[in-house]
Amino acid sequence: MSSNDKLIIFDTTMRDGEQSPGASMTRDEKIRIAKALERMHVDVIEAGFPIASQGDFESVQAVAKAVKDSTVCGLARALDKDIDRAGEALKGANSARIHTFIATSPIHMEMKLRMQPDQVLAQAIAAVKRARKYTDNVEFSPEDAGRSELDFLCRVLEAVIAAGATTVNIPDTVGYNLPHQFGELIRTLRERVPNADKAIFSVHCHNDLGLAVANSLSAVLNGARQVECTINGLGERAGNAALEEIVMAVRTRRDLFSCNVGLDTTQIVPCSRLVSGITGFPVQPNKAIVGANAFAHESGIHQDGVLKSRETYEIMRAQDVGWMANRMVIGKHSGRNAFRTRMTELGVDFKSEDALNDAFSRFKDLADKKHEIYDEDLQALVTDANLVAENEHVKLVALKVCSETGETPNASITLWVDGAERVAAAAGGGPVDASFRAIDSIVQSGAELLLYSVSNITTGTDAQGEVTVRLEKGGRIVNGQGSDTDIVIASAKAYINGLNKLIQPQMRAHPQVGM
Ligand code: KIV
Ligand code: ZN
Repeated sequence: MSSNDKLIIFDTTMRDGEQSPGASMTRDEKIRIAKALERMHVDVIEAGFPIASQGDFESVQAVAKAVKDSTVCGLARALDKDIDRAGEALKGANSARIHTFIATSPIHMEMKLRMQPDQVLAQAIAAVKRARKYTDNVEFSPEDAGRSELDFLCRVLEAVIAAGATTVNIPDTVGYNLPHQFGELIRTLRERVPNADKAIFSVHCHNDLGLAVANSLSAVLNGARQVECTINGLGERAGNAALEEIVMAVRTRRDLFSCNVGLDTTQIVPCSRLVSGITGFPVQPNKAIVGANAFAHESGIHQDGVLKSRETYEIMRAQDVGWMANRMVIGKHSGRNAFRTRMTELGVDFKSEDALNDAFSRFKDLADKKHEIYDEDLQALVTDANLVAENEHVKLVALKVCSETGETPNASITLWVDGAERVAAAAGGGPVDASFRAIDSIVQSGAELLLYSVSNITTGTDAQGEVTVRLEKGGRIVNGQGSDTDIVIASAKAYINGLNKLIQPQMRAHPQVGM
């Protein structure tokens, strides 16, 4: 196969994925996700939108420094100030890419940008030229390409390639296209743009009609050689194309795809767990590849078939996507050095000896309760520690719950609220309800609980439960997470984490994508 046969995997979990309401990530969380993507050998990691906020700028800067093997990318509107900010944030990267964009569809140009097509064209060219001052790896996206006029799209692409864009990305920004149509669009663009051979064609599909993966694959069959995607399909609205589905489709159907992906697919499930834990977006059990039921066979006929020959009902091996990769790494008797070494491998660097000692003592507490400690447990430990450290207004000090057949469950809770200990008790429909009521009687947040979900981090009845809550107040939605071997305590931690986020001022604000 020639180099043309490589399919570049561009992950945008930390940029488009982060644009999902409630999915904000801190700098340290982004570093951990970036390290996991690097371990998976993802080609390009879009780490954020540096102009969006100081926090976003610092996150991209930190990821650029932490990642050595993957290209790190920053997003910029086709504006000088955005491009300069992205160039600045990416300075420390081994390999940097600037991704600049401007909308090209009639509706976006007229109603949103209020610009004439020629002005858009001129701005696109200027943006690419400016980005080239910082790096020779420049990507250009005509936003809403899926609803743009073909002739104009061809003109823009020809001009930006001539100006120095090395990748041209065709976004179906609103998820409007159907697979045959989107594939045809890519084929036509590659045929009609005179200098098409000078750039890599990429696609970026949204999932509004549930077609993001199908559209992306259709584009690959028609010559696209980069796919933009996210772990677990996270992303604006209904999300982006799911990385795990794209990668496994191309690998499993080698007979149809004339390209290959260079990823270590055994890192898929651990990475999915990490992103789910950090964002608090649970993975639905029937989700392809990474859902808990993706390789589970319930019907007797299926079980019988699989026992006789796995291929009867399985087209992929669970271990190839990392279902069995969560090997036990360290246990009760491991020392501080083994703990620190594994954490470093997972992308967690302790800022001080105190922070290491604190994490190590949490690890020992966990190892006392749970015999086998997996990477996912270690990740959850850090997430939990960060959640507490970053949002200190309300902290859980103690929780006692009584739950008995035929009796109303009740909970007594001690919270630390801005430096003072407060105690309350409440009854409820169940132990979790009672705990939340007790917390509410102290905090009186007025928040509405939109979602409550529990999942197990690893297998077995001694596994840690990971709880996600989604809270809403005054139109603001936040996710809270908590983990513990006791799911009532994990629930209380998640609720408190969500309340802490609501108490804090808005964490960050993205400028409108598209000016
Ligand atoms: O969906 C979209 O059009 C985008 C662009 C910035 C590529 O996210
Ligand atoms: Zn997008």
